[in-house]
Amino acid sequence: MMYQNIIDTIGNTPLVKLQLDKYSIGEVYAKLELQNPFGMKDRVAKNAILTAKESGELKEGSAIFESSSGTMACGIALVGTSLGHPVHIVTDPRVDTVTMAKLQSLGCNVHVVDKMGVQGWQGARLDLLHSLLEQHPKGYWLRQYENPSNPQAYTELARELVKDLGQVDILIAAVGSGGSISGTARELKKYNPNCKIIGVDATGSVIFGQPDRPGRLQGGIGNSLIAKNVDHFLIDEVHWLNDHEAFAATIELARNEKIFAGNSSGSVYAVARWMSRNVASNTKIVAIFPDRGDRYADTIYSNDYRQSKGINHLELCYNPKEVPKNAVVHSWSYASFLERFTNAK
Ligand SMILES: Cc1ncc(COP(=O)(O)O)c(C=O)c1O
Repeated sequence: MMYQNIIDTIGNTPLVKLQLDKYSIGEVYAKLELQNPFGMKDRVAKNAILTAKESGELKEGSAIFESSSGTMACGIALVGTSLGHPVHIVTDPRVDTVTMAKLQSLGCNVHVVDKMGVQGWQGARLDLLHSLLEQHPKGYWLRQYENPSNPQAYTELARELVKDLGQVDILIAAVGSGGSISGTARELKKYNPNCKIIGVDATGSVIFGQPDRPGRLQGGIGNSLIAKNVDHFLIDEVHWLNDHEAFAATIELARNEKIFAGNSSGSVYAVARWMSRNVASNTKIVAIFPDRGDRYADTIYSNDYRQSKGINHLELCYNPKEVPKNAVVHSWSYASFLERFTNAK
């Protein structure tokens, strides 16, 4: 397969049927977004930057800014610098060494805040971002949490799924900015209005109404604020997993399916495997796997790190509790969000 440039390689990722186990009835297909040059957010960077160039919001050669410490930063570094834009990423000391190496080697400017602000690391990052934008008045701030180009980037992903599978019955995706689940679901529902949409979140994340618990260990999934790009009306059911469960599932994913991925893929895998036991045969379930495991070598995949965080046993209990959507949860639980329609009347 030949491409004229690296940006053209983004998208059209493999869809792989998981082997699962003898209890599984439905079919689970993993969309390997981790096989993009860096990860799932390469799609967002490509769509947002090309759209902003077309609208004139991003001028030729102007700098691009974003606050991120992970997949979004890498995507912007890749697309932005390839198109001749200086890229400035604002991050904090929690950034991992693999991400840092990727950003710096591509020629990206990485600004690391040195202390928390009144609103934690996120607040300190935003303060620095605003001061950088003041110095670069022609700069373009991508704003993944509210930029409609984020969910729109996944229209293509949904079409790839429909092309490969014909019909998708259930979509399972991790939620952070909300772009991937909302954009993919919106398009899939055009082909199958009954497609069930399942969001996967971390315990202690506020996205679906849990009280905020700072110090969560899971990367990418969960948030301390509710991003505008989360379209709650599209999501039928939400599962929350704690750090132990997410790590255990990630390690099981590598061991059982030979897919070396990050913790959001692990949590999505756990939910997809459980779903596959509780549906009719031939049900087609899609699980989105956002990023590779490399940047978690010193955390999820490190025995020493896990022990230092008190994560000693890695057995995943296959008994998630069904709870009302306003219950506060500390371990794998799920709630239906369908009732919001009746509440809204
Ligand atoms: C590794 C990883 N998984 C999942 C997500 C969640 O995706 P989204 O922001 O589209 O909700 C992110 C977001 O940053 C991520 O980096």
